[in-house]
Amino acid sequence: MGQKKVYVTRKIPQKALEMIESEVNMEINQENRALTRKELEEGIKGVDGLLCFITDTIDSDLLDLNPKLKVIANYAVGFNNIDINACTERNILVSNTPGVLTDTTADLTWALLMAISRKIVPADHFTRNGQYKGWDPLLFLGSEITGKTLGVIGMGRIGRAVTKRAKGFDMNVIYHDIFRQSEEEEKRMGIEYCKINELLKQADFVTLHVPLLPETTHLIGKKEFEIMKKSAYLINVARGPIVDEKALVSALQNKDIAGAALDVFEEEPKLAAGLAAWDNTVLVPHIGSATEETRTRMGMIAAENLLAGLRGESMKNLVNPDVLKNQ
Ligand code: GLV
Repeated sequence: MGQKKVYVTRKIPQKALEMIESEVNMEINQENRALTRKELEEGIKGVDGLLCFITDTIDSDLLDLNPKLKVIANYAVGFNNIDINACTERNILVSNTPGVLTDTTADLTWALLMAISRKIVPADHFTRNGQYKGWDPLLFLGSEITGKTLGVIGMGRIGRAVTKRAKGFDMNVIYHDIFRQSEEEEKRMGIEYCKINELLKQADFVTLHVPLLPETTHLIGKKEFEIMKKSAYLINVARGPIVDEKALVSALQNKDIAGAALDVFEEEPKLAAGLAAWDNTVLVPHIGSATEETRTRMGMIAAENLLAGLRGESMKNLVNPDVLKNQ
């Protein structure tokens, strides 16, 4: 397979690169930043495979630059950066990296939930800045987590892993999803299905774990913030556009909710005007899967899928199996 060519649009852990290089001709973006559109257009030309990231927009105009392209391995579980229909129409196989980042992302969800409810970020700044003058019974009073109600929107792999952790905090877990779990499973997990407005009404913490689709864009906006408890917190580690960020800024301003902890933003890396002004937010730069171990596993899975696709073997994490019908 030495003659096959692949382009890797950003550096990933070395082990994965070595695996790719052992089988194919690999070119890689050497800059420590995402490619510009122009660079991506150049990079994709003439290659058989592409390993790319959520920061690379793969649309039909880009695909038209390379009729030879066979496989795209996206280094993420989400693949809203890729026009999947356009790939399927061109018989391009696309894979993602599910499973390996589930626990890591659930852990970050919990880090955010705990940070926002216990005011960890402002308390850290306060201590660091020398403002701590002694124990104070009213200093940085947060909200209790144990025994509260967690509303999970999207009970897929990550939603389930978040739920599992919530049970360690004796939380009451309610959920909404377009797919309802079986009664048996609901019982086993100790969760209760709710319509979305009911969930928003009851939850002390609302956490989002749905993919970004036209139906989930602005799933949480002005109306939803008004339904939420004034004491509730929103946590989003899924995709920014699921939340109407301008409406969130207004909700924080009007005190419709108590706060928000976000790993993702509507127009990353930009933040909606005013968002950073509030100290009842925790804002982190899309680090849901960012551990050494997970980023290495994601690299290995992306590399395995890429190479399998190029060899003509089945890809473990193919997201558009319809391509196979055309072959
Ligand atoms: C990251 O956002 C991912 O989808 O893996």
